[in-house]
Amino acid sequence: MNTPAILKTFHKGKMKEYFVRPEGEMHTDIGIIKLDELREKNFGDKISTHLGVELVIQKPRAPDLFIHARRSGAPMMPKDIGVIISNTGLCSSDIVLDAGTGSGILAIYLGSIAKRVVTYEVREDFLELARDNIALAGLSNIELRLGDIVTEIQKLDEKFDVVTLDTMASAQVVPYVPDIIYPGGFLVAYSPFFEQAKEIREAIGKTNFIEVRTIETLEREISFTDRGTRPSTARVGHTGFITIVRF
Ligand SMILES: C[S@@+](CC[C@H](N)C(=O)[O-])C[C@H]1O[C@@H](n2cnc3c(N)ncnc32)[C@H](O)[C@@H]1O
Repeated sequence: MNTPAILKTFHKGKMKEYFVRPEGEMHTDIGIIKLDELREKNFGDKISTHLGVELVIQKPRAPDLFIHARRSGAPMMPKDIGVIISNTGLCSSDIVLDAGTGSGILAIYLGSIAKRVVTYEVREDFLELARDNIALAGLSNIELRLGDIVTEIQKLDEKFDVVTLDTMASAQVVPYVPDIIYPGGFLVAYSPFFEQAKEIREAIGKTNFIEVRTIETLEREISFTDRGTRPSTARVGHTGFITIVRF
């Protein structure tokens, strides 16, 4: 193979995993891995460290990017991304408008399903970091655009099936969404705070929307130990509110 890969092993009671490119070598606490050897391997094969620890080679998928990609700030959590995908019915013919790009994690999940994603980021350094993450994901259907979505959306003459907003400026973008969305299309706005969600709802109230609701998703992992089975005491707390609008 000549593409990035995930190397994974369960060693001394702990999962160890590495996101690597097939070049050079990597020094780890379980030994040296000759990454050049990956060129002769396929996904599903194993590779050994010089200490004889075997790692399985996996094809990277979006959740691997969430764990291993470089971050410019807080990426959206998979539990919230799942809500966006399920509530919009995102599919392979969809064209998506996304802002702000951030680390590109939401864009990568969207791009793994949709036909095309156009994503706007106001900061050039963040855009370049997201570009690297998207290249690592091996996606070529995500177009990165530098600019302030509040002004850029007003210049667009394309239409979209789904619009996702994850910026503090989302409420200012909402008035322009009806002009660039197909009838029946969805807008989803993610807001970390109640105040921001309220601002978004007020902005939506002034548009020709058909349906709107705001939800929060809670995730509880279940822990299995010799002592018993129960929800894990370490948990993901509040992340954000998701407002889903249909036009
Ligand atoms: C919370 S992050 C988005 C994270 C992203 N959804 C992900 O999963 O990686 C918000 C991003 O929006 C960008 N941003 C803020 N205001 C913006 C605007 N007016 N236009 C475009 N991007 C903006 C910020 O620079 C930041 O990178």
